[in-house]
Order: sequence, then C-alpha cells, then structure tokens
Amino acid sequence: MENSALDALICPVCGLEFVETLPGENSLKCIDGHCFDIARQGYVNLLSGRGTKFTQDTAEMVAAREDFLDAGHYAPLADALGEVVGEVVRDARPECAPAGTSRPLVSRPLVLDAGTGAGYYLDRILVNLASGPGGEHGIDSIGLDISKFALRRAARRNSGTVNLVWDLWQPLPVEAGRADAVLVVFAPRNAAEFARVLAPRGKLVVVTPRPGHLAQIAELAGMLGIQPQKEAELVQAMAGHFHLQERREVNVSLVLSPRDIQNVALMGPAGHHVDPQHLARTVLGLPAFTAVQAEFQISIFSKLAAA
Ligand SMILES: C[S@@+](CC[C@H](N)C(=O)[O-])C[C@H]1O[C@@H](n2cnc3c(N)ncnc32)[C@H](O)[C@@H]1O
Ligand SMILES: [Zn+2]
Repeated sequence: MENSALDALICPVCGLEFVETLPGENSLKCIDGHCFDIARQGYVNLLSGRGTKFTQDTAEMVAAREDFLDAGHYAPLADALGEVVGEVVRDARPECAPAGTSRPLVSRPLVLDAGTGAGYYLDRILVNLASGPGGEHGIDSIGLDISKFALRRAARRNSGTVNLVWDLWQPLPVEAGRADAVLVVFAPRNAAEFARVLAPRGKLVVVTPRPGHLAQIAELAGMLGIQPQKEAELVQAMAGHFHLQERREVNVSLVLSPRDIQNVALMGPAGHHVDPQHLARTVLGLPAFTAVQAEFQISIFSKLAAA
C-alpha cells in the first residue's frame, strides 16, 4: 500500500505512526508492532478486535445508494462539493496554488471523508480537483466508514485513497492538525475529533438535507420529516469547536422511477428496518416517473482558535 496519506495515520492501539508498507505486503504495522490486515479490495479494518455498538450499513443499503448515486441524480451536489473543497484546499494551502506549479511542499494537502460510504462524492471531488499535469490532483485522501460493505466499494472506486473501517465516535486514527478539509456527507459528526485532526486553516464541510428534501416521497420512502430547527441544531452541535463560515444551498429537480424511489428508501437510515419485500410491492404501484425536489445544504465551518 503506497500512499502518502499513510503518513498522517496513527495506530489506534498505541497512537504511534505506521511503518511504510512494501509492495505486496498485506498488512499495515505500526512501529510498536500492532498489525492490521489489508483486505483484498484494498481497505484496512482498524477496528478489528475493538468492537463498536454501531450497526453498519448492510450490503443491500450500500448497493442501493451506489445504484442511485451512479445514476447521477445527486451529481449537482457532487459538483458543488468539488468547488467547495477546491476553494477550501487552496485557502488552507496557498503554497499549492496555482495547480501545476513545482513549489516544494512539506506534505500534500489532505482531505478526510468521514462516513465515505462507497466513495461517490470523494471520487467526484478528486476528479474535479485533477487540474494538474496528467490529470493529477496532488491531494491525499482518507475515507473512513464503519461499514466494510461500503469500503469494499469505496476501495474499488478510490484506489488512491486510504480507506479505513473506523467508528467516527471513537478518536480518529489520524494525527492532529493534518487534514485541510474534513468532509461529512449525511454521516455522523464528531466535532471534537474533526477539530483535532484539522489544520488551523482547515475547514469542516458538512452536507445535510434541508426541510423540503424529497418531501414528495418522504412518507413513502419511510424517511423521517426534516425539521426546520435542524440547521440551528447543526451549528449548535459544532459550537465549542467550530463557527459557521458560510452556507450554500443546492437544489436539484429530479424525475425518479419506481426503482430510484426504492433505492432512496433503502439507502438511508430507514434501510436498517424497512421490509424490502413490502417496499418492492409498494413501489410497483407508483407511476413510471415521480417529480421530486432534492434540497441540500453545504455548511462550511472554520475552527475556533482554541479548538
Ligand atoms: C447516509 S450514508 C452516506 C455515505 C456517503 N457519505 C454518501 O453520501 O454517499 C452514511 C454513512 O455513514 C456510515 N456510518 C454510520 N455510522 C458510522 C460511524 N459511527 N462511524 C463511521 N461511519 C458511520 C455508514 O456506514 C454510511 O456509509
Ligand atoms: Zn500501535
């Protein structure tokens, strides 16, 4: 596993750094000898033996999300995120700009995708940033997720990313101050840990649904209503570590097939308890196409000086 993002990792057992992995080696070892298998697909399970009380997304949930995202329905959100992360990295690391210059760097900019899922947004962001010679984006990336089913896919999609099975509610296996951007797209938000791993000028980029998001199918898809106070609650939950610097809204008009709606129902939190057979029967009764509005918010947070 050759990847300079490995330099930013710390062993979750002892907090020490990892030794360089030689080509063909199938484990990641820290300098104190703690050893973690590199899966055939290329991700590493750092949680092994530690256990967690969180239920991972199932293979079916991950497949539904990937099917839906790969159909391009949320591509405008991915493009908007590409722009935001590009701006964040340029602001955090002015020495990197403009792309393609040969000024020496201490380390490459690092983007951490917390709850990366199958890596769809991270992939689109990296493609967006690939403006250097030969399509090289010059960015290191780490994807964290508790679901090994998600990471199998993420590792295939983002083979240049260090993909790790990890629980976001535990101390992150990343050195303090190393990340230039932490990205959280519909995933858990551990404000204290995100602040710790971010560089002083780094930013936390959070995507949440707005109150009208998929309102036309919310009940059918078994999704909970999104309350208007959620936006204030997000800022409140980050307070103490971050202040809100900017908000951007992304609205997408969608025309969804019954299969798309089935995927939406399976890919979210409802996917943990929905009955797939009942759902399949319900969507059979839907019209060929349903017009739906997706309403997202991108919140960009700066670190508080003391965080
Ligand atoms: C709604 S999905 C979003 C995935 C991805 N960001 C996307 O938008 O395609 C939420 C993701 O968070 C992950 N997740 C949930 N709880 C987690 C935890 N405690 N630690 C790490 N990942 C977690 C799930 O496995 C899932 O992949
Ligand atoms: Zn160790």
